[in-house]
Amino acid sequence: MQTQIGTDINMAIAYLKQGEVVAIPTETVYGLAGNALDEEAVLNIYEAKQRPRFNPLILHVSSFDKFSLYARNIPEHCRKLAEKFSPGPLTFLLLKQDSVPDLVTAGSEKVAIRIPSHPVTLSLLQELDFPLAAPSANPFGYVSPVTAQHVYDGLQGRIPYILDGGPCSVGMESTIIGFDNDEIILYRHGAIPLESIEEVTGRPVRQLVQHVQIDTPGQLKSHYAPHIPLWVGDIDSLMQVHHGKKMAVISFSKRYTYPEPAYQFVLSPSADFHEAARNLFKVLREIDSLDADIILAERFPEVGLGRAINDRLQRAQAVFKS
Ligand code: TXA
Ligand code: MG
Repeated sequence: MQTQIGTDINMAIAYLKQGEVVAIPTETVYGLAGNALDEEAVLNIYEAKQRPRFNPLILHVSSFDKFSLYARNIPEHCRKLAEKFSPGPLTFLLLKQDSVPDLVTAGSEKVAIRIPSHPVTLSLLQELDFPLAAPSANPFGYVSPVTAQHVYDGLQGRIPYILDGGPCSVGMESTIIGFDNDEIILYRHGAIPLESIEEVTGRPVRQLVQHVQIDTPGQLKSHYAPHIPLWVGDIDSLMQVHHGKKMAVISFSKRYTYPEPAYQFVLSPSADFHEAARNLFKVLREIDSLDADIILAERFPEVGLGRAINDRLQRAQAVFKS
């Protein structure tokens, strides 16, 4: 199969209507989209991504009105949060309607839904009479793509079309939350910090991110992993431990005296979390093409977007320790 990169929404629509899989831009990362109501299309997504079928997919819709077509018992907190953050990088885990195939939710009675905030993909969704199921458009286990070229690098030959919407403006996946009675549960750290969710709802958020269950969102250990081993922590200590190896360093804002500049990656010289999050996946890919033995990454302050960045770095590290 030839993979084409382009900006033709009509071409994307035509493929999607035929049950084919198309990469789409979102504000967070590129998605690998298919008709969520068509089991063949959903199977095509799992296959293109080489993803195990027990790991469910997020449903993408164009407006909050559509939620009730695919989810039921939508809590008031969800409404409130959607009003504030949707379209945007917040995904809601809700009880599913029968209209959603079990293949999308991997058998769970809950479905994850979000409204992406990218003009091209919003227009695309408005033209379709079905929601799009879309995981991040990377081969299973690798770093999420934040440009059309990244998608091409990983999935070339496996999908017919990549809809190019430019580089992702947020560059970090959506935050995933769910509800248990009046309680709000965070399943995946992401682009909306939990502090913002607490502020809008006036409720403390319970974190379920640490549980290593195979069916918990974002919990598979091999996620986000570059090919070169990565360690996260205090850079000076890590440098001592790994003395003698050829290293690349990822830092928040600081430059170190070692290694040489080409092997140092500052995510945000002005120490801005948003900029750092936007650069993280791009930098992980860049480093992966260097001849380094090891990547050392600075642990971020555990607040705001720093939590999501630490989470992704931790996952990139985990694969080499297990
Ligand atoms: O920003 C994002 O969320 C991007 C863009 C493309 O929208 N999508 C994304 O999808 O990150 P993916 O598949 O790479 O990660 C979604 C996570 C997975 O870890 C999956 O396990 C979890 O969401 N998830 C999806 N549906 C679920 C469900 N019904 N129950 C529990 N977890 C679910
Ligand atoms: Mg992913």
